[in-house]
Amino acid sequence: MKIATVLGTRPEIIKMAPIIDEISKRGIDQIILHTGQHYDKEMSDNFFRDLEIPAPDYNIQVGSGTHGRQTGLMMKGIEEVLLEEKPDIVLVQGDTNAVLAGALVASKLHIAIGHVEAGLRSFDMTMPEEVNRRAADVCSAMYFIPTEESAINLLAEGFSRKNMFITGNTVVDACFRHLEIAKKKGFEEESLAALDIENMENILTLTMHRAENVDDKQRVTSIIEALKELSDMNIIFPIHPRTKNTLQNFGLFDELNDLDHVHIIKPVGYLDFLQLTSASTLILTDSGGLQEEAITLDVPALTLRYNTERPETVTAGGNILVGSDKEVILENARKILDDKEFADKMKNAPNPYGMGDSAKLTVDAIEDYYNRGLLDITAPEDIMGSFTRKMAQITEDITVTEFEQKENALIHMVFDGQKMVFPADDLNIKDMCVTYDARE
Ligand code: UD1
Ligand code: UDP
Repeated sequence: MKIATVLGTRPEIIKMAPIIDEISKRGIDQIILHTGQHYDKEMSDNFFRDLEIPAPDYNIQVGSGTHGRQTGLMMKGIEEVLLEEKPDIVLVQGDTNAVLAGALVASKLHIAIGHVEAGLRSFDMTMPEEVNRRAADVCSAMYFIPTEESAINLLAEGFSRKNMFITGNTVVDACFRHLEIAKKKGFEEESLAALDIENMENILTLTMHRAENVDDKQRVTSIIEALKELSDMNIIFPIHPRTKNTLQNFGLFDELNDLDHVHIIKPVGYLDFLQLTSASTLILTDSGGLQEEAITLDVPALTLRYNTERPETVTAGGNILVGSDKEVILENARKILDDKEFADKMKNAPNPYGMGDSAKLTVDAIEDYYNRGLLDITAPEDIMGSFTRKMAQITEDITVTEFEQKENALIHMVFDGQKMVFPADDLNIKDMCVTYDARE
């Protein structure tokens, strides 16, 4: 079996690293294809080094640009590589332009696609990421889904649960694997080492790069106004290159940089960043990955967004959406700082993203599909006949699998009277309502 991984940005490298490592350990043939969307050493190479994964076999160096141009160039480059390499499956991760390009190209070549971190939805189609992740899900053959909530999103859109694997998120694997190594190593980046983090109190780690925040002068100004007032915190801000550019263009960079309690540094490597976040009192962010890492590292998070495709973090109590509203940011930051009980509750929020075995579960599922010939994408030859979409209230003790065998059916959705639940094969559906396709 040959597995191709398409990646292009910092979070994809971090989250695919545990899977790349697992594939290597099992001796499976693999290629890594970097689109080159992130190209600065601080946004790319340093992560291959810190996470100890092999350098990409191909880098198609698309660089920065508009979405159409960037995605088009990626598609051209990815197609050339896939035609040459002929992998059995292409893995894409998350919601960047690499995911969209990789999924579109592979599906047209009839190569199976595994979408890692599938099923997330912000329900905000103005976000490029929402478009990317939805399109990738349409093209995919295997869905590696972090939580039951995200699986239910896919079920509600009509995807078959047979190809869904609830694996947790590989970000937990990466965090658990590297935190102790990071702590022993100390800080690599000089500007961070110079801050004497070990003896610092009230650390607020800030990251923001989301287009809807940093490209909007009003929003970013409001966030900066809040930062100015948090003068009893040490705000450490490893700045994303996009954000540095836009703050400079808006004439806001120097004003922020001149504040004594704000330390703007360049983006740091993964091991440095893990040490920084785990030593923080609070994380203020619009990053997707950081919302997950915060709850994994037991650090309260305030998210600078009005929606999130990680609602589990909010329900669990570890994350609060504060948008870009100065007063809401300040009120919640103050509470975390001044109200120990409130902060402890956030810290103790249960982690919804699994045990750190997500990469293993993912590669197990891929090997199983390969061995059963399920990665072969061919036009259906069996005659479909007809089926009827039905709904039923179940009154007997029966599992999902038993019901499906009895009725020659495939269950879509299960409703337990309060909420949708994922129809796991061994779920007893007595007293629940199900929707299903019954073959005639
Ligand atoms: C991209 C992803 C976003 C993800 C983020 C992770 C899309 C649509 N967006 O956003 O989902 O959360 O990566 O960080 O795929 N730049 C550099 N050096 C680099 C890379 C970028 O200077 O190595 C600058 C360029 O000016 C570029 C800008 O940052 O125009 C934005 O980069 P881009 O890759 O388009 O989007 P991100 O904001 O990084
Ligand atoms: N990160 C890092 N160094 C930094 C900032 C972030 O290593 O200076 C890591 C962080 O640990 C997380 C990932 O980058 O795993 C998040 O990437 P980003 O916020 O760029 O993208 P998103 O998750 O929003 O797609």
